[in-house]
Amino acid sequence: MLIGILRETAPRETRVAATPRTIGQLRGLGYDVVVEAGAGMRSGFPDDAYEEAGARIGDACAADVVLAVNAPPAERLSALRPGATLIGLVDPRGDRARVADLAKRHLTVLAMDAVPRISRAQSMDVLSSMANLAGYRAVIEAAHEFGRPFTGQVTAAGKIPPARVFVVGAGVAGLAAIGAASALGAVVRAFDVRPEVAEQVRSMGAEFVTVGLTGASTADGYAAEMTAAQERATAAMYDEEARNADIVITTALVPGRPAPKLIGARTVAAMARGSVIVDLAAANGGNCGLTVPGERTTTESGVTVLGYTDLAARLPAQASQLYGTNVVNLVRLMTPGADGRLVVDFDDVVIRSMTVVRDGELTWPPPPVPVSAASPAAAPGTVQAAEPRAPLTPAARLGIVAAAAVVVFGLIAIAPERLQQHLVVFALAVVVGFAVIGNVAHALHTPLMSVTNAISGIIVVGALLQAGGGSAVTTALSAVAVLVAGLDIAGGFAVTRRMLAMFTRG
Ligand SMILES: NC(=O)c1ccc[n+]([C@@H]2O[C@H](COP(=O)([O-])OP(=O)(O)OC[C@H]3O[C@@H](n4cnc5c(N)ncnc54)[C@H](O)[C@@H]3O)[C@@H](O)[C@H]2O)c1
Repeated sequence: MLIGILRETAPRETRVAATPRTIGQLRGLGYDVVVEAGAGMRSGFPDDAYEEAGARIGDACAADVVLAVNAPPAERLSALRPGATLIGLVDPRGDRARVADLAKRHLTVLAMDAVPRISRAQSMDVLSSMANLAGYRAVIEAAHEFGRPFTGQVTAAGKIPPARVFVVGAGVAGLAAIGAASALGAVVRAFDVRPEVAEQVRSMGAEFVTVGLTGASTADGYAAEMTAAQERATAAMYDEEARNADIVITTALVPGRPAPKLIGARTVAAMARGSVIVDLAAANGGNCGLTVPGERTTTESGVTVLGYTDLAARLPAQASQLYGTNVVNLVRLMTPGADGRLVVDFDDVVIRSMTVVRDGELTWPPPPVPVSAASPAAAPGTVQAAEPRAPLTPAARLGIVAAAAVVVFGLIAIAPERLQQHLVVFALAVVVGFAVIGNVAHALHTPLMSVTNAISGIIVVGALLQAGGGSAVTTALSAVAVLVAGLDIAGGFAVTRRMLAMFTRG
């Protein structure tokens, strides 16, 4: 099949749906690729770079599969081949008129902005990729507007206080903003209605602000809308935090609804002259009452409000690379034979959730897909993506520990004398290991694997000592122990190496 890469026509759009690197990956899946002339110019990818990667420059609308960032305008849609598949940001939840228009054409349309929030689909999640870049860029824009550095310093000419940053909403964009602002040396505080993000906020270097009242997540992993009582209770906190901050970055969104208004005109008027608000929810109406979507405004009191809606596109090369990689991951999922043939498999929950139109037939909205963190009760007709698992209560944990202790002591009592000592050591190791690992933050579990590798090394030594000196059963068990521990060591080091590589430059 032929894949076509469209040139984007929206005025402020700088991104492109494929980069020279992802062209190579698409070709590796068996596809021919045609790129529209100039498609990558605004992201820094000239036509010859695409040609070197194995694509040809030509009419992308004539392709079997058309990749775009934004849904093409009506006249370009009319130029697509009947029966073609279009993959791009279609906004099926918000733009009903476009969905109706798409359904009138003989096309299959997959929305990159409708990837379900399940672990398996993370590699295709464009909204997260873009939110991550937008959060980072929000801090850069704020730093550009702010008249002082973010880092505190003591200089010969006097003391420079660190910038105080308040981040509202600790989803993907909010956490990226927290990370970037902390890295620049700011003192960061953050709030989210979902209490479960407090640990992530702290691990990114910010202090989590609490107000006692918290909301919840919906079945699809987003925040639920706040009640009027919750909004009243948090309003005072927003007012106080914003007044004390130099920079306010707002990212609060509730899907399918206008962005909640959290920072009012009175609060903005009370902020210090020179303060900056970056409203990442601007496209949905904004979290700040004074935000003008797409614009930079300054209030009479000297507070700058940035309502840019193209923050990710302000990093075009990286945004295109991430978007292109998300698309390649989707195309790979849809090409099970790696033979250049795209298959729309409705038994796959990811494909079903993203398909807006199939062969000219409207398939939107799809059945809801609850994520594992959501409420356990699934609606009738729901596609179950992951089995919800309730956390163990303290009483249940105690019960399990007690039962395990009874079993181990029972074994020790009936075991031959030579085995008793080993069983005691084993029981103590379980208790110590449980206590140590139970107190390690989740974020550090992967590095902890290096330690467990070392422990597996001891198992190998023990098994080798036993191997030669006994029966065939002992030798066989030793061999199995060496094999399993060897796999553990090799696998553990491979994962740890991969993780460390993420922090290596170049
Ligand atoms: N494939 C996946 O598993 C997957 C993909 C994307 C996101 N996620 C998870 O889903 C969560 C939300 O992601 P997102 O960033 O796309 O969310 P989002 O863009 O919908 O919302 C941004 C944040 O605003 C918060 N918020 C909403 N109303 C608020 C209010 N009144 N005050 C303060 N905060 C408010 C939300 O809780 C959320 O954290 C994240 O924890 C993310 O890790 C999972």
